[in-house]
Amino acid sequence: MAGLTTTERGSWNSKLGFILAAAGSAVGLGNIWAFPTKVATEGGAAYLLIYLLCTFAIGFPVMAAEITIGRRSGKNPVGAFRDISTNKFFPLVGLWGVICGVMILSFYTVIAGWAFGFAFEEIFYFFGWGGAADWLTDTGNGFKNAIIATVFMLGTIKIITGGVSDGIERATKAMMPLLITIIVVMIVYVLLQPGSAEGVSVYLLPDFSKINANLIFSAMGQAFFSLSLGMGALITYGSYLNKKENIPQAAAFVTLADVGIAFLAGLLIVPAMYLAQSQGINISAGGSLASSTDLVFQILPALFHTIGGGVGMLLGVTFFLLLSIAALTSTISLLEVPVSYVIDEFEVKRKKAAWSVGLSILVVSVFVSYFPVLIGWFDYLFSSIGLPLGGFLICIFVGYFWKTENAINEMEYGYAGIKQTLFSKVWPVFIKYICPAAILYNLITNFI
Ligand code: PHE
Repeated sequence: MAGLTTTERGSWNSKLGFILAAAGSAVGLGNIWAFPTKVATEGGAAYLLIYLLCTFAIGFPVMAAEITIGRRSGKNPVGAFRDISTNKFFPLVGLWGVICGVMILSFYTVIAGWAFGFAFEEIFYFFGWGGAADWLTDTGNGFKNAIIATVFMLGTIKIITGGVSDGIERATKAMMPLLITIIVVMIVYVLLQPGSAEGVSVYLLPDFSKINANLIFSAMGQAFFSLSLGMGALITYGSYLNKKENIPQAAAFVTLADVGIAFLAGLLIVPAMYLAQSQGINISAGGSLASSTDLVFQILPALFHTIGGGVGMLLGVTFFLLLSIAALTSTISLLEVPVSYVIDEFEVKRKKAAWSVGLSILVVSVFVSYFPVLIGWFDYLFSSIGLPLGGFLICIFVGYFWKTENAINEMEYGYAGIKQTLFSKVWPVFIKYICPAAILYNLITNFI
């Protein structure tokens, strides 16, 4: 097989384009829906602290590794491992990544669909169309879930068919600045309201007694999910990256953007939850939030309704559009992984690959729409276990098969003199020992 040329595969137009696309992949439901909910229910600031540790000590080194594998090989996750080493096992790690991507996307579109539906719910509620509003808020309605998930998937496919620079890069470049603006405006509004202050202290003042093995496992899984690590999304995005770009720096920007937005989302949503309480909205069932969907899909809408009038609606629509935009830049990357696999390995044209892979995953999404209980199972298997497992194997690959010296040589192209830096001395230690040991320990304690 001759393989495709760079021009045929596509590439980023600019370094900023890559960073925004990768940050767009990272920033998603994980940051704005899952993270604040976990902080609120699993230990407040103590959770935040462990999460930051996992992100910088485990996530960042693995991210640099993934991008480097991608750029070195110029391939999808399966082809990348095959290209770099003759070992027959590692392409299977790439394939596991593709499978995780497919399965995560299948439930991700359903949750994204809820968010998108709520944006309209706020409008319908405002105009007093209660029936339509109620229909949209029913997360257990399979038919409704399936329709909105389909809309979301079609949008994702459409962007992917546009290609790397004209599709993915252009779309994320437009959406990311919008997203940041919206979130900042909303934080300012919420923090100015009396009643939100208690949330700020819960969020920022740690109670160390809350730290235990469960919390650490949850925070690590959250870090992998949020940074889009462990399934080859960044191998794929790295494969479109120009040789002259500085990989550690790009990885640092993406990590900071991801943590920054998660932090801001927490600063918005945790205080909003206490604001809701001060307005008489019940925020707890038996001492804790009843389920993870409650905070964003029940308490916040209730708050927007209580604020009422044009302001409540405006806030509600804006918030749920924000969530939808963040989700869309992530579904793009989730779909791009299996699509690039099909393009590279079976030499299928992009358009055909995007439609056939996207529509096949949509079949699973429709199934999930009718059985939302699957979301929890898929999330546990393919995100909480699957992504850290993938990250662990990527560390083993780079540390012991490809070798960190060779990875540093690849980084050297865009970062002349990297060998004299602290990064090149510390990063191999993390990839060979600290990251794999920490991940393995966490996975094992989770099973015991
Ligand atoms: N990082 C995305 C989020 O936080 C989800 C994602 C995971 C995207 C894995 C791509 C790969 O929502």
